[in-house]
Amino acid sequence: MRQYGKDWAEKPKDMITWLIEDAQGEERTVRNWALRVLTVNFAAIHTSSTSFTHALLHLAANPHYIAPLREEVEEIILKEGWSRASLQKMRKIDSFLKESMRYNGLGCLSMSRKALKPFTFSDGTVIPTGTYVFAPQTATHHDGEYYPDPEVFDAFRFLKGGEANGPKQYLVNTADDFVPFGNGKHACPGRFFAVNIMKTMLAHVVTTYDVKLEKEGERPPDRWIGPASAPNGSAKVLFRKRQV
Ligand SMILES: *[C@@H]1O[C@H](CO)[C@@H](O)[C@H](O)[C@H]1NC(C)=O
Repeated sequence: MRQYGKDWAEKPKDMITWLIEDAQGEERTVRNWALRVLTVNFAAIHTSSTSFTHALLHLAANPHYIAPLREEVEEIILKEGWSRASLQKMRKIDSFLKESMRYNGLGCLSMSRKALKPFTFSDGTVIPTGTYVFAPQTATHHDGEYYPDPEVFDAFRFLKGGEANGPKQYLVNTADDFVPFGNGKHACPGRFFAVNIMKTMLAHVVTTYDVKLEKEGERPPDRWIGPASAPNGSAKVLFRKRQV
């Protein structure tokens, strides 16, 4: 940048370039940029890969979903090719991933907050300084009051209201009863990117492969560590080039 100024032909389009461009004053240090890259890595990588692995296991456990997903993707790609706009039209892919994130989170809690000063709710409940509070993710996502038949993995659950329910149901939209990306003012700002990545990968998998589990239909149990969970690390998903 010192040499070329703000813009030049091969200027990279990547995170570190954006960080260098935005840094002001004392932020303009290698240490600052390195810490920010590490923070983003920590926030973005295992979350997307864990969520996608859960979805892949759901797909492999329920291979009957491959055909409708494949059909949707192919119809859209044939007309419009691969683009952000065409990804947005993949409603079944979106609903599948959303149902997977409803069913399996990164743990049973979300939206961790630490009270930096006492906070009083409208009902009088006081959260003293230093207390941690969380949103009960699994309990909410598996509550029949919000999700009928909550223990059923119903991949197209979020398409049921039809277009009337439209954008409200998209995976990127957070809600009181859908908190994998948090909710409110500090909802995950990377979710639009993460959703595009996961949709691209799922669309690629269903249009390229047939998948199933080693033990057909038996989704191996998740691994729990305290409130955190991850897909079963020894689960095997079998891939073969698609036959139809
Ligand atoms: C992973 O799944 C296998 C069965 O497929 C099970 O024996 C094992 O306990 C699971 N691992 C964890 C950490 O739950």
